[in-house]
Amino acid sequence: MKRVTPDVLVAYASKHGSTEKIARWIGKEIRGNVDVLDVEQISNLNYDYVILGTPIYEHKPLPSMSQFVEQNSGQLENKAKSVFVVASDNELRSKREQNIQAFTKIIPGEINQTAVFAGEVDEQELSNQEQHSVNSYLNSISKPVGSYTKLNEKKCREFGKSLNRFL
Ligand SMILES: Cc1cc2nc3c(=O)[nH]c(=O)nc-3n(C[C@H](O)[C@H](O)[C@H](O)COP(=O)(O)O)c2cc1C
Repeated sequence: MKRVTPDVLVAYASKHGSTEKIARWIGKEIRGNVDVLDVEQISNLNYDYVILGTPIYEHKPLPSMSQFVEQNSGQLENKAKSVFVVASDNELRSKREQNIQAFTKIIPGEINQTAVFAGEVDEQELSNQEQHSVNSYLNSISKPVGSYTKLNEKKCREFGKSLNRFL
């Protein structure tokens, strides 16, 4: 049954802030009562619809998101939901698929919609170990190393808008 004013949760994990920005852009386009929360702040899943978003680090979702999904798998399984991932790049189809699968494979139940967004890296914020890790990933996909921002607010908002048909 469609609710007049659905309760919607955008649940994100973010280490350096880009996934949080994207979650907030998506949240702005969703109709209803929308909470945009870090998974570490979520106390209940009393929502009609849930959108889950995580960056990919070393080919995996952030541990805080994986833990959240595992701890709430019973409730998430039957929840109407969509997911998105944030990665260094979203140009290559094979990489997009790899990145989204790294997340969807841990999510129980049906998923309405998925998206992959390109994120950002500010080398000055990274530890030496993180710099090494991201640069070796960028090398492996033949992309220039170093800081970049590929955030695309319009695309993120369009994804948010497109989810209104599920509410
Ligand atoms: C240490 C590190 C490792 C990363 N590993 C990957 C990776 O394996 N695959 C990928 O597509 N992007 C990788 N990235 C890129 C991030 O997914 C991207 O920078 C994202 O915007 C970070 O999200 P956040 O700002 O919300 O933490 C990595 C970034 C860092 C800093």
